[in-house]
Amino acid sequence: MYKTTLRSMMCGFVNKDFENREIKLAGWVNRIRDHGNILFIDLRDRSGMVQIFTNSKEMISKIKDLKSEDVILVDGIVKKRPDNMVNREMKTGEVEIELKELSILNRSEVLPFQIDDDVKAHEELRLKYRYLDLRRNSMKEAIIQRAKIIKCMRDFLFDEGFIEVETPVLSKSTPEGARDFLVPSRIHKGKFYALVQSPQIYKQLLMVAGFDRYFQIARCFRDEDQRADRQPEFTQLDIEMSFVERDDILSLIEKMIYRIFDEILKIKLSVPFKILTYDEVVEKYGTDKPDLRYDLIINDFTDIVKDSEFKIFNENEYTGGIIFEGDLTRKEIDDLNLFIKSAGGLGLTYLKIENESLTGPVAKFFKKNVFNLKKGHILFMSGKRKRTLEFLGMLRRKLASLKGFDNKKEFNFLWVVEFPLFEFDEIENRYVAAHHMFTMPKKEHIGMLSTDPLKVRSDTYDLVCNGVELASGSIRIHDRNIQKEIMKIIGMSEDELYSKFGFLLDAFKYGAPPHGGIAPGIDRFVSLLLERENIKDVIAFPKTLNGVGVMENTPDYVSSKQLKELNIKVVNDE
Ligand code: AMO
Repeated sequence: MYKTTLRSMMCGFVNKDFENREIKLAGWVNRIRDHGNILFIDLRDRSGMVQIFTNSKEMISKIKDLKSEDVILVDGIVKKRPDNMVNREMKTGEVEIELKELSILNRSEVLPFQIDDDVKAHEELRLKYRYLDLRRNSMKEAIIQRAKIIKCMRDFLFDEGFIEVETPVLSKSTPEGARDFLVPSRIHKGKFYALVQSPQIYKQLLMVAGFDRYFQIARCFRDEDQRADRQPEFTQLDIEMSFVERDDILSLIEKMIYRIFDEILKIKLSVPFKILTYDEVVEKYGTDKPDLRYDLIINDFTDIVKDSEFKIFNENEYTGGIIFEGDLTRKEIDDLNLFIKSAGGLGLTYLKIENESLTGPVAKFFKKNVFNLKKGHILFMSGKRKRTLEFLGMLRRKLASLKGFDNKKEFNFLWVVEFPLFEFDEIENRYVAAHHMFTMPKKEHIGMLSTDPLKVRSDTYDLVCNGVELASGSIRIHDRNIQKEIMKIIGMSEDELYSKFGFLLDAFKYGAPPHGGIAPGIDRFVSLLLERENIKDVIAFPKTLNGVGVMENTPDYVSSKQLKELNIKVVNDE
């Protein structure tokens, strides 16, 4: 009940077991209701709220200038409420406290916005006064639940024989990945640390060191464009294991997530989760993180429509379509078309099918119903295969949100495995690692590394739920020669790979065990569990979309003395 020298318990713990006992509480005035001859105060602390009353005229006049959010200390007697006054909505609703003494510990000025779950204030204002925003019940709950989820992760991993190890945050700038946040060194002029983007290399070195099972609640820093599910600093549950294969890691994570859902949400998930390859999901859903709460599968109609007289269908490399068996209005189809065009696509066309009757812009090109559909719509797109699939993936999501399929209360987990090892970066005109360069190619594909790199699939796995990528991981390379070969394929010279990663390549000389790991993003995981739209809603002090800490005003200028010490000159401070 968290007794301190000032209070005897916290508000949320008061109940009828304490009837007629004198207690001391401290907290914030949530609300005051003055009925003339009786005055009620709702007193709030982290644990909850309790009602206090007084009908003493003397007391009422003594505290008449008390206001919401004042911090008070209260001495009173616990009373059972009469049956007809019990408040079932409140945890402490069977009791109330008759006020004996009240002292004001601190006053609150008029708030910039009301502490209310149904807050109307603009986000910028809420972030500026985040400490007030965090007083709101829904924010407070999110932060408390986050702590419980992290504790659950820790307990589970300790039970499974993992060791928690901290690794450096001040690290080294390495090529690939996102842009680094750099930290200048005062002692070594002209040199910089980089804030770690993830503890990837350190955790691999811990495997070389023989720790076998490592985890860390790791803060990661990436200077990338922000989105609803991205923050410049975020938290991963970073995991690495030795002497494992892919399925050891998948089942460990399934077991952990099962336990968290069971303990926190009282939901029994169905495990094991589905597994699909990258190639399968891209072909069927047009994305590597499909939302499987709904079907809307992409069908490859290339061969079926090739013989139609519609030029766009027979000239293009690929034609795919989404079958929608329900009703779609012209307006809905036009809106979907507009959406695709504004996203940079060429647009869509459609067929409406009712047995043998075909209508819609391309109906005239088909003599009969060649589609395996009795009644419904097919939305088609044609073009280059990869790009068209991407747009069909967007169309699939948009259609699902139009029809409300993505509101379904369900957690649909999926493993996506065997991603390509490389992608080709058109701008830089070179191969880049699709996951990261420490990922092991599939054994049977190692021979294709030099001949057909884009065909090489890797021993990777992403955990996806309801269209969100929650975790990414892989079996790692522990062979120095394969590691060097991959680094060369992505364009690193012999000199560069030693200057940047010599320490890792050296470590692989001294008995590196086979190992692999994964890193669930904690912010994303918690926001999924708590059904929050934006990861900001589960982070105590997040940054805005353009990386600003509104409350403390970060980033900020520093003094010329500091810059001088660091040997840094700001060339253009406009
Ligand atoms: P990756 O870069 O895929 O892998 O990150 C793993 C998980 O971290 C979360 N995540 C983020 N969350 C919030 N804001 C961001 N900017 C952000 N970026 C990533 C996602 C993602 O799935 N070292 C590898 C993991 C490994 O191979 O073990 C890594 O960092 O949930």
